[in-house]
Amino acid sequence: MENIAEKNIDTRPIKVEVKNLTKSFGDLLVLDNLNFNIRQNEFVCVVGPTGCGKTTFLNCLTRILEPTSGDLLINGESADPKKHNLSFVFQEPSIFPWATVEKNIACGLEVKRVPKDEIERRVDRILDLMGLRDVRKAYPKDLSVSTAQRVIIGRSFAMQPDLLLMDEPYGQMDIKMRYYLEDEVIRLWKELGSTVVFITHNIEEAVYLAERVLILSNKPAGIKEEVIIDLPHPRDITDPKFIEYRNYITDQIKWW
Ligand SMILES: Nc1ncnc2c1ncn2[C@@H]1O[C@H](COP(=O)(O)OP(=O)(O)O)[C@@H](O)[C@H]1O
Ligand SMILES: [Mg+2]
Repeated sequence: MENIAEKNIDTRPIKVEVKNLTKSFGDLLVLDNLNFNIRQNEFVCVVGPTGCGKTTFLNCLTRILEPTSGDLLINGESADPKKHNLSFVFQEPSIFPWATVEKNIACGLEVKRVPKDEIERRVDRILDLMGLRDVRKAYPKDLSVSTAQRVIIGRSFAMQPDLLLMDEPYGQMDIKMRYYLEDEVIRLWKELGSTVVFITHNIEEAVYLAERVLILSNKPAGIKEEVIIDLPHPRDITDPKFIEYRNYITDQIKWW
């Protein structure tokens, strides 16, 4: 796999620097000195076994949790939710039941006091990109689970975040729905030029989505290896090269 990395020298500017990031809960060391960079407009997947510290890692990135030591820089400055625009999609559905689809997409922008005409422009664009135009006035109770998740994903992309963090957003979904939503995320990412960190324990999903996969080791988690997935999107899960990547990453983890 090394030769692939060599011929793909990435020249995009560095957006996020994770420096010596360590997190313990009391005596329990969960993250052990993580170091890596994420480039602007990069799509990175982080994979690792359940309980290895993926959510903890995300929560440190967003400062929901304070790292025990180390730091996270965005555009060269220590990450600060007040200064930087960070957006998340959690595993649990987080749609607002009292608001219509278009309101759900707009609400983050309203909180950020984005001007009204700009909010309208962005909401319209997201509704178009996600094929949600027909349900813009609908309430969540009338949506399927996957449509609701699309609204949440649309909401986070509408923020045009410095960094979009997704924590196993499709964990609960059946496989067909997942493929469909994975394609949507790729389309939004390409169209809007976002920088995305996507957490999953599903190796196939990581190989399907990511430009680069960071493999976490078991607790305490460190970065075991990073693999550049040198395949164009949309990807074909039956392509022998796809299978080769999937098998390689599985071998690196081997938790089953
Ligand atoms: N607030 C907390 N206090 C104590 N231990 C925690 C806390 N949050 C997570 N942990 C522990 O840290 C480890 C990693 O958890 P987590 O980051 O949720 O893993 P993952 O998302 O990879 O499944 C687990 O052993 C978990 O029990
Ligand atoms: Mg988790």
